[in-house]
Amino acid sequence: MPTTKRLTLSDAQFETLRKVVYDRSGIHFQDSKKYVLESRLSRRLEELEFDDYDQYLMFLTSGPYQTDEFQEMFNRITINETSFFRNEPQLDVFEQRILPEILEKRKSSKTLRLWSAACSSGEEPYTLAMILHRSLGIRLADWKIEILGTDISEKVLNIANGGRYPHYAVKSTNPMVLSRYFKQEGREYILDPEIMSMVHFEKLNLKDTYAARRFGTFDVIFCRNVMIYFDDQMKTNCVKMFHKQLADDGTLMIGHSESLRNLDVKFTQLNIPQGFAYQKSDA
Ligand SMILES: C[S@@+](CC[C@H](N)C(=O)[O-])C[C@H]1O[C@@H](n2cnc3c(N)ncnc32)[C@H](O)[C@@H]1O
Repeated sequence: MPTTKRLTLSDAQFETLRKVVYDRSGIHFQDSKKYVLESRLSRRLEELEFDDYDQYLMFLTSGPYQTDEFQEMFNRITINETSFFRNEPQLDVFEQRILPEILEKRKSSKTLRLWSAACSSGEEPYTLAMILHRSLGIRLADWKIEILGTDISEKVLNIANGGRYPHYAVKSTNPMVLSRYFKQEGREYILDPEIMSMVHFEKLNLKDTYAARRFGTFDVIFCRNVMIYFDDQMKTNCVKMFHKQLADDGTLMIGHSESLRNLDVKFTQLNIPQGFAYQKSDA
């Protein structure tokens, strides 16, 4: 029987690879995460029929295929864990405190722009669309709502654009919301086309802070559960970019295990329990 050789990543190769990953994406693999890179990329090396990681590093960093291979690598090494209505207490804060205020402030222009940065397979921006749909009700037709979802991984963006989800994705979704916005087909949950039409997806690497400028200004930016993979420098660059992309009265909402503390950025935390919400400040 043929045996497959499990390729190991030496410490030196790990150092080189994690620097390459960091330089391109800001994702920082700590020493303890060497096995994660190794296990996530070993299948790729087999597919390419490489004998070791030196060949892979060469392939990745030089030659005509490097852009494609970086994309392939990000599809494999990113952690895409997400679900609809993830961290519901924070979403309640958004729905009951932040959204009504911003709707009031925008009542003459009737435009609202939300950005889910690092949206994975779309559950987060689609959740925001459902919240807006139920909050505005029939008034939705009077508003120009734009919800943008971006991620570095094309693989997850393809899932997002498909709008078909496994049970895991809706595990935290209230049964009434589930029956209102999804149709079950076998083991899949198919998202309502009206909700899908409220969200637009684009590929964006948060490392490319200039690339985000083309998306314009937002009223609320959600960037949850990705900064945990970044070091302080990358976090700072990202948050400075969000500062530029937010309206002056806009709000930044981050993950419940993340913080802007110790970062040299101009944001003030709103005093709302469970909010993890920040407002722009000039200080
Ligand atoms: C754990 S998911 C979080 C999804 C969603 N925001 C949530 O909280 O449920 C993290 C996502 O960040 C994306 N990501 C990682 N590094 C990124 C980068 N440099 N630019 C854009 N997206 C990135 C990953 O592809 C992944 O889909």
